Amino acid sequence: MIAAKKKLLCVNIDHVATLRQARGGVEPDPVHAAAICEAAGADGITIHLREDRRHIQDRDLRLLKQTVQTTLNLEMAVTGEMTAVALDVKPHKVTLVPERRQELTTEGGLDVAGALGPIRLAVDKLREGGIHVSLFVDPEEHQVRAAKAAGANAIEIHTGPWCHNPGGRELRRIIDSAALAQSVDLVVCAGHGLNYRNIQPLLEIEPIVEFNIGHSIISRAVLTGLEQAVRDMKAVIAAGGGL
Ligand code: PXP
Repeated sequence: MIAAKKKLLCVNIDHVATLRQARGGVEPDPVHAAAICEAAGADGITIHLREDRRHIQDRDLRLLKQTVQTTLNLEMAVTGEMTAVALDVKPHKVTLVPERRQELTTEGGLDVAGALGPIRLAVDKLREGGIHVSLFVDPEEHQVRAAKAAGANAIEIHTGPWCHNPGGRELRRIIDSAALAQSVDLVVCAGHGLNYRNIQPLLEIEPIVEFNIGHSIISRAVLTGLEQAVRDMKAVIAAGGGL
């Protein structure tokens, strides 16, 4: 049997910051979470610094740049402010994503074909700064070709529509886009909406080398970690304090 090619996992830790922001305090700290993810084998850490700073903060980005031992992938909108932040902090990789203020999470792929000029400009600046650039795109031929024309190193295929509608048609679009991207020398990543079950068919798509996953991992962590957290508090109460 031929061994499957290694696929990398980058863990998106935005939700750790969301929990911290809910109380406006210091815990849980995404910097601490990133170290745990790496110790558990994560191949990279992903954060989205949104324009409204609703979860990840500039402080997180700066500290993670200093502490992440694998690769730090910064998701960000195509704006002058974000390009300046990225060029200042220099994460290993930037993934350009569309961003709308009212959305709960990133809703669609970046329309690279529809905004090739400004995207190419941003890609050029980031690459000149030594940053590897990926574009988050829907699995459509014209978007993959536009990503190549924009000078990106990589694409991240938006798997959200397939996760919502896991039929053969959506899977086919991902397979074809991944093959096309690989044929034009783009590194192929995938992400959004992936969980412990729906990732299975994507593991068989050879060109995909990296997955970006957040919500399902953090959701599982809350549930698998809850028992120990309650035991720890019971122990503190029983001992009259201290942990
Ligand atoms: N990739 C991109 C570009 C994203 O915006 C997100 C969500 O922040 C993810 C991957 C991870 O998606 P999920 O949290 O659904 O795993």
